[in-house]
Amino acid sequence: MNNQIKRVGVVGAGAMGSQIAMVCALAGYPVVLQDISQASLDRGIQSLQAQMQKRIDKGRLDERQVDEAFAKISTTLSLHGLSDADLIIEAATEKLDIKREVFKQLDSIVKVEAIFATNSSTIVSSKVADATFRPDKVCNIHFFNPALVMELVEVVKGPHTSEKTAQIAHDFVKSIKKTPVLLNKEISGFIANRILGKLMDEAVFLLENGYASHEEIDLVCTKALNHPIGPFALMDLTGIDVNYFVRMQRFEESGNEKDKPAELIREKVNKGELGRKTGKGFYTYS
Ligand code: 3HC
Repeated sequence: MNNQIKRVGVVGAGAMGSQIAMVCALAGYPVVLQDISQASLDRGIQSLQAQMQKRIDKGRLDERQVDEAFAKISTTLSLHGLSDADLIIEAATEKLDIKREVFKQLDSIVKVEAIFATNSSTIVSSKVADATFRPDKVCNIHFFNPALVMELVEVVKGPHTSEKTAQIAHDFVKSIKKTPVLLNKEISGFIANRILGKLMDEAVFLLENGYASHEEIDLVCTKALNHPIGPFALMDLTGIDVNYFVRMQRFEESGNEKDKPAELIREKVNKGELGRKTGKGFYTYS
């Protein structure tokens, strides 16, 4: 446990938010998970139950550890439920106006000493910090998907973020048994997604232009480059809509046509083929 952080609040019970909540609970933190939709909260908890059962079945965790972790997670539909948190991790929809509104509201609800972090990898914290009266306590804490499994977490210091806040965030990540990497300057995409983005762009280029199928491109990445999964399987895992929003965000920032999402990605999003979560993306899931 971290000395400054006793209780964690997580905004958004999607795949990222719910798994972040469980990672914190497994490390012993009481967590309040908030979402505006009861259905999303229920889905988030059900999905955690399934993931935790797998770990029990494999002998990675015992039932007592899992029960104790679930007992530390409470859910709420209201941001007021997060008032006692020392750290807020926002994992709401990847839209700037929504995030700004969340932080603006939280600013008047949550104690002044609390730190606010956004899990976004594209929306740097300076875009939301000025929606609060505590910009020195705002930063990015970026987990990877699936957060229960992925070890690395990027902690990003904006120009407004104090050294103390960055240090507390960094120490907190260690306390939840993840490996933190600290970026001293903010840049959209941080490190991992900037590098991954180039790989995905090239994969989509090869597919769109008929050089090879998505299965073959994935096979090259897994068998020639030793990546755990290929770029198309990864887009299905993280959500093709997430990829689309990331690119749109970058395009809106740069105004550069080459930053626009590829036509193939736009088509998938328009058809609602978003990946694992809709049962179909580049692959089909049962
Ligand atoms: N949620 C939680 N846990 C999951 C999971 C999920 N969706 N999928 C798999 N797991 C767990 C399994 O339960 C298993 O746990 P265990 O080791 O305790 O038994 C472990 O992951 C390995 O799973 P499997 O053996 O079933 O399957 P794989 O060997 O294919 O591993 C994977 C699955 C860990 C997801 C692996 O494919 C992988 O590492 N993929 C790359 C993930 C990646 O690159 N993530 C970064 C995405 S970019 C991002 O997140 C940035 C954001 O801003 C968009």
